[in-house]
Amino acid sequence: MDHFDYRDGQLHGEDVPLATIAQRFGTPCYVYSRATLERHFRAYSEALAGHPHLICYAVKANSNLAVLDVLARLGAGFDIVSVGELERVLAAGGDPARVVFSGVAKERHEMARALEVGIKCFNVESLPELERLDEVAGECGAIAPVSLRVNPDVDARTHPYISTGLKANKFGIPVDDAPAVYARAAELPNLRVVGLDCHIGSQLTELAPFLDALDRLLVLLERLEAQGITIEHLDLGGGLGVPYQGEQPPAPFDYARALLERLATWKEGRDLTLLFEPGRSIAANAGVLLTRIEYLKPGETKHFAIVDAGMNDLIRPALYQAWQAILPVDTRQPRETAIYDVVGPVCETGDFLGKDRELAVAPGDLLAVRSAGAYGFVMASNYNSRPRPPEVMVDGDRSYLVRRRETLEELWAGEARLPENR
Ligand code: LLP
Repeated sequence: MDHFDYRDGQLHGEDVPLATIAQRFGTPCYVYSRATLERHFRAYSEALAGHPHLICYAVKANSNLAVLDVLARLGAGFDIVSVGELERVLAAGGDPARVVFSGVAKERHEMARALEVGIKCFNVESLPELERLDEVAGECGAIAPVSLRVNPDVDARTHPYISTGLKANKFGIPVDDAPAVYARAAELPNLRVVGLDCHIGSQLTELAPFLDALDRLLVLLERLEAQGITIEHLDLGGGLGVPYQGEQPPAPFDYARALLERLATWKEGRDLTLLFEPGRSIAANAGVLLTRIEYLKPGETKHFAIVDAGMNDLIRPALYQAWQAILPVDTRQPRETAIYDVVGPVCETGDFLGKDRELAVAPGDLLAVRSAGAYGFVMASNYNSRPRPPEVMVDGDRSYLVRRRETLEELWAGEARLPENR
């Protein structure tokens, strides 16, 4: 459920007509709904009430400061993958003690900064990373809290680019190697083992892979206990899918219930604090990309609706053949219906937002690409020297510009011509 609905034929974000936002801030433009972000976060926190837990929003999904701020105010933790994301969390008022640091290639300076601000945990993905972290912690005079990201080798049955829990993926430590790596972690002087974690993929629409992964982690946990290694928290990563095109992914409530039931049957698991790293399920349907039709181009085999947003603004359709709903913002004018490919201005055949969409539109009309709150703006680029779009947060009947449109000068800020005498 989200807060983008038609009222009297006009698409609104909460109480604000999207047409008003386009008028105020121009297009293309990302629009987020605070109430939707809050609702999705609470779906997790309420599902887990009664069990010790921490919901660490995956910053990579949408790292705008206002989004982080909204979630921080609800007590969210954050899952980060770079020092850049860490600094964003701090700038947005997030609590470093609720931050977990994922990612396969953490650099020394990133580790040092995370130790300096006192994050909750490093999700370590390899033995060399573990050894580097021990060294850096030693240099900083700190003890690093660690969790090992284990690769449970389960098939998440999702798009291959966003599946991460198979042996063939670069992520995590193979489950069979984990006991030895934990033993090494316990031995290293500047580390403290606190957790066990996994993330098997993204946009999962069934519970079975999550439960399979949990089973494998619990077997490992039993083994670790026998080795004398105590785990305080179990981090199950993110990955819960969202309905883009009629999918019916499990709700956080059903997901949590199934996990808690399974955990209750294990004496090792019962009292563990549960961590989650949801990104998409919190942010995707809390955002739309607003775009205006520049031209309608009839063709012999296809009609094109050429819009002012392109693959540089929203790359998911081009990169993953992702399907996202495209809706007219104002349905009050009579229009002829036709089937269109909705394409952008970028000089690439792959520059489309949607294919074969039935739309009743005219040039100048506004469209909203739905489910664009996650992996939308964060994956935007300046390709074709296109300034990145602004981001707006609606909150009830108000809207706030939370990132302004880039200027043309910003496109080459930081670049330089060669010296004249060369
Ligand atoms: N934790 C870790 C370690 C991750 O790698 C990810 C996502 C998450 C949490 C959050 O997963 P979520 O709840 O959002 O599924 N750009 C792709 C998605 C890439 C996901 C990468 N990792 C897309 O647009 O579909």
